[in-house]
Amino acid sequence: MGIRDDIEGDWHASLAALAWHVDLGVDEVIGETPINRYDLPETTRAAAPMASMGNVTAPGAANAAQAVKPPTDQAEIDAVEAARAAAARATSLAALGEIIAGFDLCELKKGARNTVFADGNPAAHVLILGEAPGRDEDIEGRPFVGRAGQVLDRMFAAIGLSRGADAPEAAIYTTNVLPWRPPGNRDPEPGEIAMMRPFVERHIALMNPRVIVVMGNTPLYALTGQKGVMRARGTWTTALDRPMLPMVHPAYLLRNPIAKREAWADLLSLQSRLRAKN
Ligand code: URA
Repeated sequence: MGIRDDIEGDWHASLAALAWHVDLGVDEVIGETPINRYDLPETTRAAAPMASMGNVTAPGAANAAQAVKPPTDQAEIDAVEAARAAAARATSLAALGEIIAGFDLCELKKGARNTVFADGNPAAHVLILGEAPGRDEDIEGRPFVGRAGQVLDRMFAAIGLSRGADAPEAAIYTTNVLPWRPPGNRDPEPGEIAMMRPFVERHIALMNPRVIVVMGNTPLYALTGQKGVMRARGTWTTALDRPMLPMVHPAYLLRNPIAKREAWADLLSLQSRLRAKN
């Protein structure tokens, strides 16, 4: 057997192993880095499934373990500074999209299929800020295209707003705090949010919306440092010198249809704010 046979043997063995995993239903990566479970010592093997899931939190414990703290690690501080400098260079939304796509300091990018920048009408009066791409968004490269996105579209259509509208007063524009999907849809970490925040700020400044709607805990935290969207929802506040309305995330409405009543009240509040002159 020559070297070439060895390489081909490895290739076929790897392909067969991959096909076997796919047959078992393993169709996506959920860890930050690959783990060879056959190499793990016995003691860590038992604990490995949770460890490999990064910061995936137990249902109901979401966010509870995430402290609101600015980065303290020098590498993280440097990354935030690099993001700030990169974001400042963007003089248009198109340029910002390219700069974000070329930003390599966020580990999430390595596991993502696509950089998910924005969707909708950039001239819209309303900017909707979500959390991060999910599986469908990662595949398609556009925010809010999965089930939560369909709910979002129906919600805003109910007050006459859509992504496809040409008139700025009838349009919406959507983007996320993170442009890359966190593995296994885990909650974004504070360090990741801090790193990408300069881009969010620049995005909002360039798009220049009349109002910002933050959907869920992550964008609320990213813009205000505040947690607890259930408490904050429905109350207008100011972020980045603009009126901001916190709402619950459409994915939450899918799991808790009863909360649609409050979401509808929030949409009506948005509608009357947009109809008012200021
Ligand atoms: N959830 C979000 O917060 N953003 C998306 O783009 C999709 C789902």
